[in-house]
Amino acid sequence: MKPYTHEPLTNFADEKNKQAFQDALSFVETQLGKEYPVIIGGEAITTDKKITSINPANKDEVIGRVSMADQELAEKAMQAALSTFETWKTWRPEHRANILFRAAAMLRRRKHEFSSYMVKEAGKPWKEADADTAEAIDFLEYYGRQMLRIKDGFPVAQGDGQHNEYIYVPLGVGIIISPFNFPLAIMAGTTVAAIVSGNTVLLKPANSTPVIAAKFVELMKEAGLPEGVLNFVPGSGAEIGDYLVDHPKTRFVSFTGSREVGCRIYERAAKVQPGQIWLKRVIAEMGGKDAVVVDKDADTDMAAESIVYSAFGFSGQKCSAGSRAIVHQDIYDEVLEKAVALTKTFTVGNPVDQANYMGPVIDDKSFKKIMGYIEIGKQEGRLMTGGEGDDSKGYFIQPTIFADLDQNARLMKEEIFGPVLAFSKARDFDHLMEIANNTDYGLTGAFISNNREHIEKAKQQYHVGNLYINRGCTAAIVGYQPFGGFNMSGTDSKAGGPDYLLLHMQAKSVGEQL
Ligand code: NAD
Ligand code: ALA
Repeated sequence: MKPYTHEPLTNFADEKNKQAFQDALSFVETQLGKEYPVIIGGEAITTDKKITSINPANKDEVIGRVSMADQELAEKAMQAALSTFETWKTWRPEHRANILFRAAAMLRRRKHEFSSYMVKEAGKPWKEADADTAEAIDFLEYYGRQMLRIKDGFPVAQGDGQHNEYIYVPLGVGIIISPFNFPLAIMAGTTVAAIVSGNTVLLKPANSTPVIAAKFVELMKEAGLPEGVLNFVPGSGAEIGDYLVDHPKTRFVSFTGSREVGCRIYERAAKVQPGQIWLKRVIAEMGGKDAVVVDKDADTDMAAESIVYSAFGFSGQKCSAGSRAIVHQDIYDEVLEKAVALTKTFTVGNPVDQANYMGPVIDDKSFKKIMGYIEIGKQEGRLMTGGEGDDSKGYFIQPTIFADLDQNARLMKEEIFGPVLAFSKARDFDHLMEIANNTDYGLTGAFISNNREHIEKAKQQYHVGNLYINRGCTAAIVGYQPFGGFNMSGTDSKAGGPDYLLLHMQAKSVGEQL
């Protein structure tokens, strides 16, 4: 088998690729408004209560109507997953991995179609949607190969007259709860990691992006995944989320989303329910308050580019987004000026038009929350550009920069999850690090510097799960920069890393006296 390499991104400067993407968008437009069922044990169940998924760039456009599972259906899905686990866990790991490889090949062939769904349903600009699909393909290819690597366990010492084995076995039924912002990559990655490890799952996608999840569930079926391994249960987080997290038969929860919901899940999952015979495992990937930190002798053009692309890619709706720029006082004004000038070149509009650098934010709730933070920013700092929003047709917010924030300002401490960037000035290297680490989170961070000693010190002192030197703080690649944060950013797991699958398994030690 070919060694793993990441899926290349599409070059949209090539007219052929541009046309292919345009064709895919036109195709997806013919698919809008369809209905998608709950899927339990392979059975498609249509319910009266539905999520109406809309285009955040054009509120009148319905992407699809997705049946919602209630607690009764959640229970039915749990029973289906429990019984399927008994057979799925006996499948050879190679055979499970083959389904992922087949799904990757199919997704590659339909790449632009899946990306187009994200343009429509999540408001992703072409490049961001293309990267999301590429990352989903990467997860399929990478986790398939990782399963082959660990399928026989790890070597252990052998004594005289003894044969010892150390192998990994699957856990059981997992609940996969995914966010809207990587509606394909994270949803697919967390799902297939659990599945290829031999578990069966209930997938609860984000309520603003359920159609892309439904399309992925269809794809996995076409790739040969047996019925009952992947059960699709869109629904209310409060209703079925709590129910499934609390369920005594839930063996693990793989959650990606906000700190608030992640902490709630962590706490609830810790309570041992009547009839429960294990301690649940929780993999939680949560928020961030990531920073691009600029040292005194940095290249100021590179710094400004790293700052604004990290801050405003996908309208700042990445857990990895650089929502803070912490800059040495000697070059602060220059970097700020360059960042503002670059930001002013960004166009905001419907992402179906490739020319728009930024699309909308995801929904009304986010729009209001972000606009609220912009008002706070006006009190706490100096508005340099942006500051305006328009929700008449879609949820559009201008890329916004505030300068001169105190390190303890709310804009510097709270995850906004929108196109709002806060600049803060530091006296020296130690002060740069102090401000950078002055957060409850610890997901990503970038350090821009030409000082070798400072680079080495930053590697030790900058407390984040993903540290980048002389580049932006977004765009980790599966298998190259395993992804996941420290502190309140999560449970220290690393998606797309060599030890990730082990979180979905338990080690079994077998010693035979010969
Ligand atoms: P969210 O927490 O609002 O929702 C995430 C998921 O949790 C959704 O499917 C939602 O329906 C579900 N949910 C809500 N209440 C629940 C409950 N009581 N029980 C179970 N599930 C429940 O997050 P979001 O707005 O979709 O995504 C944005 C957040 O995700 C940001 O904070 C971002 O930083 C974070 N995120 C983190 C990573 C990472 O890898 N660390 C990656 C992507 C996003
Ligand atoms: N891979 C995504 C990023 O690093 C999560 O931005």
